[in-house]
Amino acid sequence: MCGIVAYIGKKEAYPILIKGLQRLEYRGYDSAGVALLSNGNLNLYKKQGKVANLEAFTVGKDVSGYAGIAHTRWATHGEPNDKNAHPHYSESEEIAIIHNGIIENYDVLKEELKSRGFVFKSDTDTEVLVHLIEDIQKKEGVKLAEAVRLALLNVTGAYAIVVLSKNAPNTLVAARKSSPLVVGIGKEGDFYLASDATPIIEYTNRVVYLEDEEIAVVDLNEGFRLWNIQDEEKTPYIQELEMKLEALEKGGYEHFMLKEIHEQPRSIYDCFRGRLNAKEGWVELGGIKEFEQKIVNAQRIVMVACGTSWHACLVGEYLFEDLARINVEVEYASEFRYRNPVINEGDIVIAVSQSGETADTLAALELAKSKGATILGVCNVVGSSISRITHAGSYTHAGPEIGVASTKAFTAQVTVLTLMALAIAHKKGTITETKFHSMLTELEAIPAKVSEVLLANDKIKEIALQYKDATNALYLGRGSSFPVALEGALKLKEISYIHAEGYPAAEMKHGPIALIDEEMPVFVVATAGTSYEKVVSNIQEVKARKGKIIAIVTEGDQQVKNMADAVIEIPATDEHLVPLLATVPFQLLSYHIAVMRGCNVDQPRNLAKSVTVE
Ligand code: M6R
Repeated sequence: MCGIVAYIGKKEAYPILIKGLQRLEYRGYDSAGVALLSNGNLNLYKKQGKVANLEAFTVGKDVSGYAGIAHTRWATHGEPNDKNAHPHYSESEEIAIIHNGIIENYDVLKEELKSRGFVFKSDTDTEVLVHLIEDIQKKEGVKLAEAVRLALLNVTGAYAIVVLSKNAPNTLVAARKSSPLVVGIGKEGDFYLASDATPIIEYTNRVVYLEDEEIAVVDLNEGFRLWNIQDEEKTPYIQELEMKLEALEKGGYEHFMLKEIHEQPRSIYDCFRGRLNAKEGWVELGGIKEFEQKIVNAQRIVMVACGTSWHACLVGEYLFEDLARINVEVEYASEFRYRNPVINEGDIVIAVSQSGETADTLAALELAKSKGATILGVCNVVGSSISRITHAGSYTHAGPEIGVASTKAFTAQVTVLTLMALAIAHKKGTITETKFHSMLTELEAIPAKVSEVLLANDKIKEIALQYKDATNALYLGRGSSFPVALEGALKLKEISYIHAEGYPAAEMKHGPIALIDEEMPVFVVATAGTSYEKVVSNIQEVKARKGKIIAIVTEGDQQVKNMADAVIEIPATDEHLVPLLATVPFQLLSYHIAVMRGCNVDQPRNLAKSVTVE
């Protein structure tokens, strides 16, 4: 949460910072602000609301300068208003700071500073840090970087910060702990800093990801230097990123979410490209190869994740248990980390995360690692924190996902978990050769089948029009379509603000059936497979109570078609792979309903893409 971006060099900083904030707006959009060094002045502008509000606010103001820091906020401490927006000034207004994270001991520090006469202008935890830096610099007579280091020694919590001072006009000082920060090494001796590489990539692909407790100083005369807070100098590891700028643009679509839904044939293909070959009959995930035997021998796999990624894990549970016969437990990372979970020797803990930065998932992994588990990651963002702390892992290769609602990340996660389950099942001998080969062939056919599903867009739009004013909705599925139901419900509620619940179809009669009346749309996955007849019975139970049934069925289905109010057909596939197809109509349905209700689909209220606080 919160996006930070900074620039120092020979170009005008303001346009770079504004564009950077727009790219990072998915991380939070409660308020935005910028501080710029111009002719010896440190000008600071901030405004509640989106980056567009900030832009409007700065019209006619002095936004010149070659060094600046900027921030888009997802509020934690202090409500989203102008005064709590970042950057924050120090007491003398000579230093400004932007921060992503939470200073946990801010209360104690604030009281101490207040008792010494410091006046606070905001309710944030961040302001404490900038006062502390200035106080130390004045008292100790040290350079800005050293003052930042000494201040951070007093802080507990999470931070990614960038500090700009009137008295050090050629320098930016940055540091991170548990919140991500990337430094881009520009082509003209200039530097870009940001929460992730998206604001940087159009200027340079040479980047350094800061590690926990590292402090970076970028200086127009002295270049880039790196320390840790123990004052040990480090050698920066410069990586070359392959990310393409087009991946960050809407590419003609009205919203990122719609673009990302339509990218799925490609993103699923990219996910298995080079990792499976149906003709030759192999599947291999290079990233976890070294740990394959450990997984084969494992008595138990624990999967930890949040939100949509947790739903992907539930699909993974079906795959691993059925194909590889390994006991799987799927845990909400936030619950797992605060229990005293039993981790046995030989347990494998797999974290699934699009961003690779989700604070709870990261903390759950650290806990599992400390208890001796082998920890693996399934992440989308290359170089993210989770991908760096795990023993091994597999990237999903879905490409940047900008819409806050996860779409292509989910199908890519399910694809990677399918590949993993197949690889382990094959090695373990728990899958027949015939089944193995037919599943590989089916998996290779999935991108083309997703393209077919996308052709139902107009029909889905009609259904959306009919149910856009619903106040509640139920989503039902059985087996691995139960997580599809959960994911369908989450998509609807998070972007259209309609209350929706996902249930295993058979559970309905243990409570939720009481909700059914002629107003209630019930979205059901009723595709061909083991539980088809059971789901048909559940549909009848809903119809008997006058509920509206909108069903996802396998092409050619007649039985459900005769009972349902509407059906969306998907191509036939192996039962294990149905989630990869059945999820897509639910994504489109939520998208259209949200657009029809006038909601901001890419930036739904109160949400942020990357949840880097607990
Ligand atoms: O980056 P992660 O996959 O770890 O994020 C976890 C959840 O915050 C995320 O899946 C969230 O539920 C989705 N954006 C919802 O669409």
